[in-house]
Amino acid sequence: MKQRTPVYITILIILTILFIVFYMFVQEASFLSSSYFWGTVAISVILTMIHHAIGDLIENEQFKKLSPSEKSEYLESKKKPYFKGLYESAFKKQSATEEKDILIDHGFDGIMELDNQLPKWWLGLFYFGLAYCAVYMVSYWTTDFAHQSVEYDAEYKAQTASIAEYMKNTPAPTIENAVYSPDNVAAGEEVFKTNCVSCHSAGGAGGIGPNLTDNMWINQPEKTLFKNVFHMVENGSPNNPAMQAFGKNGVLTGFDIQNVAAYIYHINQEQPPITPAQGGAAPQGTPANWEK
Ligand code: HEC
Repeated sequence: MKQRTPVYITILIILTILFIVFYMFVQEASFLSSSYFWGTVAISVILTMIHHAIGDLIENEQFKKLSPSEKSEYLESKKKPYFKGLYESAFKKQSATEEKDILIDHGFDGIMELDNQLPKWWLGLFYFGLAYCAVYMVSYWTTDFAHQSVEYDAEYKAQTASIAEYMKNTPAPTIENAVYSPDNVAAGEEVFKTNCVSCHSAGGAGGIGPNLTDNMWINQPEKTLFKNVFHMVENGSPNNPAMQAFGKNGVLTGFDIQNVAAYIYHINQEQPPITPAQGGAAPQGTPANWEK
């Protein structure tokens, strides 16, 4: 008679399978608080206990039919701890007499072939793999489980929502509170390339619009260079409509203006001017004396 699997092991295996299946179909740990999950667990445990109890009855009946020597052999084998028996049977080797029975009738050069059984651990993994594969495919087809594009979309939406939330709660800088930061220079350069380069030329060398790298300024409404640029981009030039009010007419946000003003500050104060000899436009306006 075969050794039976202890009921607690069957229950553990069933719980693990239930957990995996629920996780694959529901896809969040939220099922742990659902009554469906715990109802399924309770029913499975009860069915397993009933199944085991019936197994006990059958075992008793079969035991009665055994000869006395078989009975004592069976009782002896039952004393062995379950996992020890499992381990031994997984790695069991045939005895020499058993080998005779599974010897296949072909060989070469004295090397004979045995019709060995597949190891139990290997078969176990194989069947588990097959079962898992079936569950996986069903959940893949019937739910969003393991769909990279769906996961990507969800994350993308969450991220854009959190950016929108941030922008809503963060007021755009105004001329009062805008500050120069070296971190904004690169973003400002992008704003410049899109909106300003057509008139002020690459690097602010000047063309239709004045050279922004030298110290000569036509418009000086503010005391610091950074605020002066902010003011000009927000309000445009009072003398020349070509320099439009990018902020007032809604083309650029306070963030964009803060960035582009950082870029102009950077090319004006932290880099040498582009002189006419280097292709820069001739100076216009009066020398500026910016406060720090
Ligand atoms: C359509 C051409 C044009 C575009 C585009 C333009 N500007 Fe101007 N900009 C001008 C002109 C022309 C002036 C000179 C205005 C004046 O004479 O008062 C000027 C003046 C300025 C001044 C003041 C310079 C001074 O000496 O007074 C700043 C700063 C400035 N522009 C920055 C920018 C920035 C930043 C952008 C992009 C967001 C931009 N401009 C886009 C044509 C332009």
